[in-house]
Amino acid sequence: MTTDEKYLKRPKRQTMLSFCPPDIGQEEIDEVVDSLRSGWITTGPKTVKFEQELAAYVGAKHALALNSATAGLFLCLKALGIGPGDEVITTPYTFASTVNVILHAGARPVLADVKKDDFNIDPDRIAQAITSKTRAIIPVHYAGRSCDMDRIGALAQKHNLTVIEDAAHAIGTEYRGKKTGSISRFTVFSFHAVKNVTTGEGGAITTGDTAMAESLRVLSLHGMNKDAWRRYAPGAKVKYDILQPGYKYNMMDIQAALGIHQLRKVERTLEKRKAIAARYRAGLSDIPELTLPEDAPDGRHGRHLYPVLLDLEKLTVSRDQAMELLQRENISSNIHYQPVHLFSYYRENLGFKPGDFPVAEWLSERELTLPFYNRMTEEDVDDVIAAVRKVMTENHT
Ligand SMILES: Cc1ncc(COP(=O)(O)O)c(C=O)c1O
Repeated sequence: MTTDEKYLKRPKRQTMLSFCPPDIGQEEIDEVVDSLRSGWITTGPKTVKFEQELAAYVGAKHALALNSATAGLFLCLKALGIGPGDEVITTPYTFASTVNVILHAGARPVLADVKKDDFNIDPDRIAQAITSKTRAIIPVHYAGRSCDMDRIGALAQKHNLTVIEDAAHAIGTEYRGKKTGSISRFTVFSFHAVKNVTTGEGGAITTGDTAMAESLRVLSLHGMNKDAWRRYAPGAKVKYDILQPGYKYNMMDIQAALGIHQLRKVERTLEKRKAIAARYRAGLSDIPELTLPEDAPDGRHGRHLYPVLLDLEKLTVSRDQAMELLQRENISSNIHYQPVHLFSYYRENLGFKPGDFPVAEWLSERELTLPFYNRMTEEDVDDVIAAVRKVMTENHT
């Protein structure tokens, strides 16, 4: 039987396939219940444990667990003293929070277009965007595939800039033998509900810079010189000092309870996703209207998303119409991303306009993210393949 015959005979899926539900096991549930019963639910021993295990996993000296990656990116900018008059370079092909935090800090976001092959920021464009006001670069490892960190690191060193990696998609990603989280001065992870390691909501900064790690910790909790755990732990002194007006970004133990077990399963998660990606490739690679995501040439792909590109020149439907047709086959899908510079706020307040970042715009019109999550069965993957094949064959030019 040819691939086409195999999938064309497959009946339509009966129930809607979700896009990306979390994979929560009994260990996570037991650990959360243990926190709830322990009398200590906010930042405490489980957060400390999660931080230690995260630092050890990525190979960083320090990890600071927080309530989101957005908080982490913002804190890095604040800890570096970045503010009005400064510029920070990042990509337009990201979630809005990567750019929002630069505005929150009072600095100017400068965008550098991405590359077509991996959707990641183009080091040549970064080089063109650097000015005397540039202070930092925030590369985003799209879908879990590492940016070209050697070139970005070299540019940063040459111009005395700090690299803050947005690794929201990239837990477990490796680049030239090193884990993401151990490469640049700061790396920020997200543990939002859809991420490969989730705490419901959550994030973390990893760094090798001990003085900065301490500043970030103080800044993350009101500017206090001791957090609650360090004040209320047996034998500790209750009084504290405020060193600066800080923020309220700490992670709770209830979240860390999830994170500890999610992190311990991350290698298994990556193996499962590798198998799903291989099944997608086997079932979709002969479709001329599709380009599938490639493995990373420089190390392990973190496999957070499965983004395919539609060849619109070979189709009679747009990407949005293709998504609707998939929905009719009971398959959810998503878009990563609508480019940040085309959202109203950025157009109206920062002067961005269509055409500014042509590669990001080109990708954004064509990209379709297929369902991709640990608990997908082979049947689920085959349902997606059959639906995608049907939509592509029924709508090609
Ligand atoms: C690339 C990227 N950066 C930053 C964030 C923000 O993460 P969080 O929701 O943990 O603040 C996300 C979240 O989806 C993201 O995808």
